[in-house]
Amino acid sequence: MILAGGNGTRLRPITNVTNKHLLPVYDKPMIYYPLNFLAGLGIKDLILISGREFAGDFANLLGDGSELGVDITYKVQEKPMGIAHAAGIAEKFAGGDSIITILGDNLFYVGKGEKEAIRKLVREFDAHPDGAYVFLKEVADPERFGVAVFGNDGSIVGFEEKPKVPKSNYALTGLYMYDNTLFEKVRKLKPSWRGELELTDVNNAYVAEKKLKHYILKGDWTDAGTFDTLVKANVIAKEISDKEQK
Ligand code: G1P
Repeated sequence: MILAGGNGTRLRPITNVTNKHLLPVYDKPMIYYPLNFLAGLGIKDLILISGREFAGDFANLLGDGSELGVDITYKVQEKPMGIAHAAGIAEKFAGGDSIITILGDNLFYVGKGEKEAIRKLVREFDAHPDGAYVFLKEVADPERFGVAVFGNDGSIVGFEEKPKVPKSNYALTGLYMYDNTLFEKVRKLKPSWRGELELTDVNNAYVAEKKLKHYILKGDWTDAGTFDTLVKANVIAKEISDKEQK
């Protein structure tokens, strides 16, 4: 599932009349990057969840997905109640299966070897889904993200969403694999301090069950929800595009 909701408030005024995920990032609309990344991992059966106001624009842009080699189902999140709330909307689509989730403003740029390694993880998880798998990246500014907290033995004991004093430099990227218990976990969530249902709390529920595994990304990654990260996203997008031309 690709999550493309929210108001993009940190990008005002450029998100006043359009959705963040439709903004240009180098030579493509932002949403193409997570979509192409999933397609490259062999995930072609997609559900895109967006707010009501711009749902038609996504359909207009992407159609049934065939031009991009994927099959897209669309669903609307009536109110921006958070990423985990949006994820809950995919329950019928998942139909009892596991589901891989990507945030629509995330760009991943990984080498061939790492892409193959991630593809293998996806295939294995898909064959035997049990718990959750999250993808972390070491960053210099962890306070902007969901941050992993490690115990003495190096295992993850929890995640903190945008902590003022981060306990590690490992951020949650917007790529997650969940077994079907995701949906009952979402139903039990309470809104966070920012009034939203958080995937960070979903991940904590998996940690509590000792059912969360993680992978530390070596390649490049950014989200694009602020002016500065939007600039970084454009730089990564140019690298991706230049490589595709070769
Ligand atoms: C969201 C998640 C956060 C994660 C980030 C990755 O943050 O809440 O845990 O690290 O995506 O892009 P948001 O973009 O909603 O601020």
